Amino acid sequence: MVYEATATAPVNIACIKYWGKRDTKLILPTNSSLSVTLDQDHLRSTTTSRADASFEDGDRLWLNGKEESIKEGGRLWTCIKELRGWRKAEEDKNAELPKLAALNLRIASYNNFPTAAGLASSASGLAALVASLAGLYELPQSPSELSRIARQGSGSACRSLFGGFVAWREGKEADGSDSLAEEVASREHWPEMQALICVVSDAKKGTSSTAGMQHTVETSPLLQERLRVVPKRMDDISAAIKARDFDAFARLTMADSNQFHAVCLDTAPPIFYLNDVSRAIIGLVEELNRAHLAKTGHLLAAYTFDAGPNAVIYAPEANMPTIVAAVNRFFPQAEAFPDPFKVGTAAALPEG
Ligand code: PMV
Repeated sequence: MVYEATATAPVNIACIKYWGKRDTKLILPTNSSLSVTLDQDHLRSTTTSRADASFEDGDRLWLNGKEESIKEGGRLWTCIKELRGWRKAEEDKNAELPKLAALNLRIASYNNFPTAAGLASSASGLAALVASLAGLYELPQSPSELSRIARQGSGSACRSLFGGFVAWREGKEADGSDSLAEEVASREHWPEMQALICVVSDAKKGTSSTAGMQHTVETSPLLQERLRVVPKRMDDISAAIKARDFDAFARLTMADSNQFHAVCLDTAPPIFYLNDVSRAIIGLVEELNRAHLAKTGHLLAAYTFDAGPNAVIYAPEANMPTIVAAVNRFFPQAEAFPDPFKVGTAAALPEG
């Protein structure tokens, strides 16, 4: 008998960025981070896991149809090992459960958007992998407990186990047991919030986030200043989200994106993730904000950039038509996703 489960997981985009590991093996971050989970229609990973007695020569995995090796001690291997271990513990407790932990796996994952283009494909991919294996193994664990495993696949993946507004608490324990994700506010709490993604380039990024973080921890003096200010930013942005205070949310989001890229520039040799188009988008949003502030007393939008040149612009739904019109006018060549994203739901397990 073939056992099978499929799960989907959404992308999340950080407002307070995770950048730096204090433990590279367990993936423990140097600071807490906070993100918004996007809706699942356009940007998601779907993963199907199968277990069957006929599968030979170990576990195998395909990403977008291409086989990836599961290296012993690597991140995929670690996630699979942890989940299989949990399944085994359940089987030991309940003799009636089928012995799935002993079977080899076949895992297929698809992204419906460009992989590794600064669009957080690793976050949705690893979250979908963990959710699909948790479904296959019928594990009783909560999203926070699963987030601890997803974190070891790709740090930001732990946040995609939740919908809405999500914090990843850095934790204090050396074994990572308290480094996990939790919901700050549900998607229903602030349904007006939307995200517009402007794809400046869908080429694979030059410096992976893993290499970039390591290089930053090793060479950037400015990182210490960042680690000093982030805890207060975490508190302030959580309060802004709870109060649905877009102005405070926007100021913190833009400041954190700019500081993250400043830290990248502070490394030796420097890392550049933004390009000229990215910087022009920052200029446009700053200008739109200046005009909107003068007219209404409020900000219009907030930009943020991950480890790549693509812009994500957060704004309340009512402001989006102005932003989309301005982006299309000044960047006719940039490929904005046709509709802004709503705040989305968590990684979804299959029904039944
Ligand atoms: O989880 P990783 O290794 O793909 O790192 C993600 C890093 C950023 O996207 C730049 C920031 C974040 O918090 O998502």
